[in-house]
Amino acid sequence: MVRMKGCSIVKAAEPTRKGTLSLSEWDQVGIITHVPTIYFYRPPENWIRSPNKISTTLKESLSRALVAFYPLAGRLRWIGGRRLELNCNNAGVRFVESESVMKLDDFGDFSPSSKYDGLIPTVDYGLPIHELPLFMAQVTKFACGGISLSFVISHAVADGQSSLHFISEWAGLARGEPLKTAPFLDRKVLRAGDPPASQPFCSYHHSEFDKPPLLVGKSDNAEERKKKTTVTILRLTNEQVKTLQYTANECQNSSSRPYTRYETLTAHVWRCACKARKLVKEQPTALGICVDARSRIEPRLPTGYFGNATFDVIATSTAGELVSKPFSFAVRRIREAIEMVTNEYIWSTIEYLKNQKDLTKFQNLHALGSEEGPFYGNPNMGVVSWLRLPMYGLDFGWGKEIYVGPGTHDFDGDSLLISNPSGDGSLVLALCLQVEHMEPFKKHFYDDI
Ligand code: COA
Repeated sequence: MVRMKGCSIVKAAEPTRKGTLSLSEWDQVGIITHVPTIYFYRPPENWIRSPNKISTTLKESLSRALVAFYPLAGRLRWIGGRRLELNCNNAGVRFVESESVMKLDDFGDFSPSSKYDGLIPTVDYGLPIHELPLFMAQVTKFACGGISLSFVISHAVADGQSSLHFISEWAGLARGEPLKTAPFLDRKVLRAGDPPASQPFCSYHHSEFDKPPLLVGKSDNAEERKKKTTVTILRLTNEQVKTLQYTANECQNSSSRPYTRYETLTAHVWRCACKARKLVKEQPTALGICVDARSRIEPRLPTGYFGNATFDVIATSTAGELVSKPFSFAVRRIREAIEMVTNEYIWSTIEYLKNQKDLTKFQNLHALGSEEGPFYGNPNMGVVSWLRLPMYGLDFGWGKEIYVGPGTHDFDGDSLLISNPSGDGSLVLALCLQVEHMEPFKKHFYDDI
């Protein structure tokens, strides 16, 4: 249904700095593969009628964006201890042009499905890492005149905030505007490339790096990793969100800060997953929380810091406690995990990783079919907040998107919490679970509000 018309390599329009860029510890742990996002547009007639106007505009502006964001045009390479560094060599990014007989109306509410097949660039992880572009984009023209624009971006080079910084500067250049905020590229501010401190500074127990719990009675998670998964988009109205928040805050001391939407919804997701998976009451379960260090670290990171400033912490409990105790118990576990993240904790995390001889066990290589690395599938979960990511209103000159969402993600337990662009307070959960758990999850997700 999708036919590729062209594939090119786009390089920085002007000479850029060449050589090695050290990565921080956070760049090299967690997901180090590519993260997909897809935008859909209905461009006006004048853009659609001129055959190559859209792709020419995109390629030219991309090439200019890569002058400032030149690390993205480079390549990763392995160094000792399963660590990575970036070779800034302007090898370029990939740009794919394609067309499809589908129409935008065929996508319904744009929930990820097999209709996305062929619309998002595929990364050939069979190739050595130093041959893989760090950024790939694909524009697809539909029979109705609509288009999709998708990107995959290496998580070893940029987190969500930095990826959207790049994308929005690219769109600004495409509209003929100058760069708004130059990226800050030197990751030394997070001690990239530095050896461990001579006086170790690991004053905390970093439970986020412990092996996540296994199903009771199992000695490994090999079976769970192989189970077929499915993705879905679940929507909650503002009223449903408010009802959950009210229940969470009912027993909260009036002098304490009320629980946020993220804390509340994440607790709800965690509980529903325990029920849908029919976990026994003594089953330990961990919930991964991605925390942005930008507002928590001292000294503050320079404006436009480009890289990963996020890392995961975990909340833990047993399925029995989560399900049988009042809802506020689960919410409090999440609050406690987030509140643990102080400036000292953040630097201790970095030091902890610096002291590891080998980073393999901290790297999530699921997309490569690898069974190494942490497993946040059954009986565990992960909820990543996209609530504050500036992902809406991406205009390359032909108007804002009509829909944006994550590309397909296929890791059991992986979920994203996204706010509705209309700002009406409704929320979207993009969720991946094992096939057999999805229907029961949906039922609990709505019935338990
Ligand atoms: N715009 C609007 N509201 C804001 C805001 C902003 N920039 N910053 C804070 N707020 C308000 C919100 O009202 C929110 O409460 P509400 O959602 O109930 O309305 C409240 O302040 C608290 O927000 P926050 O401090 O972000 O806490 P949280 O509980 O919503 O989220 C974390 C906790 C750990 C997920 C969050 O602090 C964080 O680090 N997010 C980044 C995740 C990330 O990087 N995702 C991308 C991964 S690649």
